[in-house]
Amino acid sequence: MSVGVIATAHDFRRACQEARTDGELALVPTMGYLHGGHQSLIQAAALRAPTVAVTIFVNPTQFGPAEDLSRYPRNIEGDLRKCEQAGATFVFAPKGPEEMYPPGFQTWVEPGPLAVPLEGEKRPGHFRGVVTIVTKFFALSRADCAFFGEKDYQQLLVIRRMNADLNLGVEVIGRPIMRESDGLAMSSRNAYLSPDERARATALWRALKAVRNAFKAGEVQPARLEELARQTLLADGLRVDYAEVRDPVELQRPEKVDAASRLLIAAFAGKTRLIDNGAIGAAAAGGLAATPFGFCEQG
Ligand code: PAF
Repeated sequence: MSVGVIATAHDFRRACQEARTDGELALVPTMGYLHGGHQSLIQAAALRAPTVAVTIFVNPTQFGPAEDLSRYPRNIEGDLRKCEQAGATFVFAPKGPEEMYPPGFQTWVEPGPLAVPLEGEKRPGHFRGVVTIVTKFFALSRADCAFFGEKDYQQLLVIRRMNADLNLGVEVIGRPIMRESDGLAMSSRNAYLSPDERARATALWRALKAVRNAFKAGEVQPARLEELARQTLLADGLRVDYAEVRDPVELQRPEKVDAASRLLIAAFAGKTRLIDNGAIGAAAAGGLAATPFGFCEQG
């Protein structure tokens, strides 16, 4: 059985409507060029609901003018195979940007303070594009639940808030970051890395582990832990966009770090911008467990 592909919003709404008569519908929104992280979301969705709808859409409104929209990697054939392998029921791949943003489009969802720091500061307008498209996917699918990866931790919080604020009634489920065996967080953008950049990119994971070790040894000053993360990244020639300690709910800077505080990192390996994050109190030893679609932190 090959996974069905839907190209129009009209057909996607109809397919979801029909599917919901069989029970719950789980949604997995993606921008394609799927990797093990996406597949782990699809697999989790398939365990939860009889219907899993995956969206594949490189959403232009969440890219800034100087960002990588035109060269964002695409491989629809490969994506469909991966969707099927992981348990998707059907895929909505809008046939072009105008399918989601037809002429005359003028209504946006405006996120609040959670979208201001970190990615919001570095990528103005990014979250407005994200929550607008996700609202549209929620509205079309009327999904019972939707799955997002914790690699985009701030995005997950912003989407949760949007879903609650607009009474959309979708259960927003966050899933752990999937990693390569050397700890690099899986990302479609890893495809841009040269072999040398790929080797250096593991510094994000090492920065997270260094911060966890320092916290375990008693360091609770956010500034010291952030400096340690920055030094780890710089030592491998990465350009730091930010390395910040925040509370896991409001993304405020804590006075003192506790186990639930998160380190959030964005850094450039060459021209490629990579992000990663994790709870500072998680096991510092950094043990990774193998899963069907990649490696994932234990516990
Ligand atoms: O995380 C992503 O891939 C995108 O931001 C999302 C949620 C699919 C919206 O375009």
